[in-house]
Amino acid sequence: MDQSLKNWLIRARQEKFAIGAFNAANLEVVKAIVAAAEETQSPVIIEASQGEIGYFGFENLMAIVSNFRESTELPVFTNLDHGSEIEMIEKAIAVGFDMVHFDGSDLEFDENLKTSAQLTALAHEKGILVEIEFEKIQGSSQAYLDKTAEEVQLQGEYTDPDKAAQIISKTGADILAVSIGNLHGVYQTPETIDLSQLEKISNLVPCFLSLHGGSGIEERQLQEAIKLGIGKVNVNTDLRLAYRQTLENVLRGSDEIKIYKFMPPVIGAVQKVVEEKIHIFGSEGKA
Ligand code: G3H
Ligand code: ZN
Repeated sequence: MDQSLKNWLIRARQEKFAIGAFNAANLEVVKAIVAAAEETQSPVIIEASQGEIGYFGFENLMAIVSNFRESTELPVFTNLDHGSEIEMIEKAIAVGFDMVHFDGSDLEFDENLKTSAQLTALAHEKGILVEIEFEKIQGSSQAYLDKTAEEVQLQGEYTDPDKAAQIISKTGADILAVSIGNLHGVYQTPETIDLSQLEKISNLVPCFLSLHGGSGIEERQLQEAIKLGIGKVNVNTDLRLAYRQTLENVLRGSDEIKIYKFMPPVIGAVQKVVEEKIHIFGSEGKA
């Protein structure tokens, strides 16, 4: 089994599928993602944000994923998602993650460019891929029942293809997080991806493209975006919602206290969401 994320991203681009990058904050979510990968025979990226990794622990996540990689022989990769602190990126590199996402989108442009280039050089010494972000992807991974996607997108900027091409050549980064109407979280209305903007980016920018905010985008739009060159799609909110709603349902009216009895339905619900996404992303049967 090819355990190189770079090779998998090359293959995804050639065969027009995307690798799902699923956020995990604990063992149960990792179990759900791995079970979905096994069931569908798909490559997956298991990622954690700074908040999630603070809760989980870098070494814990790495050790658990390594165990599953060995036992399943599947391409299961690791990513630090939206790492904005340099020490966090360095730690992810030190523990041997497959990729890191340096999110410098809150920095001034020049500062983001400089830091992205430095961290890319550092990661590349260890063969680790780097994703960078310039135009901030709006929202966060939660359900915004009082907002529409349109009004939130107005607070952000789209990725400019020419500027993005220059950024990639100056930083040497491997993956660009694009902002083309995708948002973190789910809203009253679905997000609308600007596919013509994506096509321009895809034709001009010499790197892999990552679509954040994989929850709340309609299936057809996701599939069109993948055809146009998106090779990685991040998903978090839909997993969180499935976890929480199922746990509430399972515990309501029950006096069960054995963790190993009330958690399997929660894992199953998250697994189902991951499998649905894998199906949409077209990575089913590729592993
Ligand atoms: O980095 C994480 C993702 O972009 C998650 O987005 O919560 O909308 O699925 P989402
Ligand atoms: Zn994101």
